[in-house]
Amino acid sequence: MEQTDIAERLEEIVSPILEWYDANARLLPWRENRDPYRIWVSEIMLQQTRVEAAKPYYERFMERLPTVQHLAAAEDEELYKLWEGLGYYSRVRNLKKAAQIICREYGGRFPETYGQVLALPGIGEYTAGAILSIAFEQPEPAVDGNVLRVFSRLFADPLEGKDSAVKKRVTGLLRDCYPLGRCGDFTQSLMELGALICLPNGAPKCEECPLRGLCAANREGSWSLFPPQIKKAPRKLRQMTVLLLWSGEKLALRKREEKGVLSGMWELPNLEGYYSREELQGWLEEQGLCPGQITPAATRKHIFTHLEWQMQSFCVSCGKEGEGFLWVDRETLDREYSLPTAFRKFLDSTSQS
Ligand code: ADE
Ligand code: SF4
Repeated sequence: MEQTDIAERLEEIVSPILEWYDANARLLPWRENRDPYRIWVSEIMLQQTRVEAAKPYYERFMERLPTVQHLAAAEDEELYKLWEGLGYYSRVRNLKKAAQIICREYGGRFPETYGQVLALPGIGEYTAGAILSIAFEQPEPAVDGNVLRVFSRLFADPLEGKDSAVKKRVTGLLRDCYPLGRCGDFTQSLMELGALICLPNGAPKCEECPLRGLCAANREGSWSLFPPQIKKAPRKLRQMTVLLLWSGEKLALRKREEKGVLSGMWELPNLEGYYSREELQGWLEEQGLCPGQITPAATRKHIFTHLEWQMQSFCVSCGKEGEGFLWVDRETLDREYSLPTAFRKFLDSTSQS
């Protein structure tokens, strides 16, 4: 379809989708008011987590850090603890950095121009659009995968071209039809339709969709072709041996390097590749741990966006607390230290993956 035709048709979706949103919007904690701080944090959390899973994290975060000043002053370790299980700790590090900038350069008031918001760490075009439309009623679209899917189906549009070019085109088309006075609702109505009706996996609920009369995919019965599936590069696999080093009631943690995946986070000590008990024995002795019993334990995998860890583990009772480790009992670990999910899997017997 021609861009000019799409632009005209897009105008037609505004009223029906807003009406639908008024009747069907979920009551979500970040929709209680228009505090830009609350909306910002919610958008960062929702980039990696489904709405239902994000809710308890969000409520806890807001309770502990109710304002941007609280966030700017928070200890890293507390932030990691609040983020534990959400993945991508760099996101919460950027939240804090941006909070400090907001406090220092903007007197604690969230900036309101697109350029200023986009310049904050961790805020890209999607998040800038979401904050400006939802918190400040500016006609700035927030185009994520959900919005692209709805758009692609509405116009049977194959979204051809580079990712950034596609987003730019869709953003431009949407911007021109943003309804002044209801910008935040329009942004959220598109997200909500993508989440509840025009579903990502499996068949969309076209018979319940307020846009079904305007939708090319519905007319042609072609929803499964839009958006076209792109072949993703296969994940890199990494085999590792993970160690549960016990000294009495205490478990060894180690700090990861300040680069690469999970940089700077606590980890269970681990070695590249699968070690045999004998190979491990040698390594443990070199570390001065005086290993006693070495018992094979759980096998787990953890999937990151571009990487998969395949982990075998051993439980080791150590006669000495070698250097370079932090030894903590389980209660202290749970209360004070954030251990990424990839490693937590070895401690929580309920986790099976
Ligand atoms: N996903 C991203 N932002 C959202 C929002 N504000 N409400 C519901 N789902 C979302
Ligand atoms: Fe998606 Fe169906 Fe609605 Fe079209 S009619 S936007 S395919 S749910």
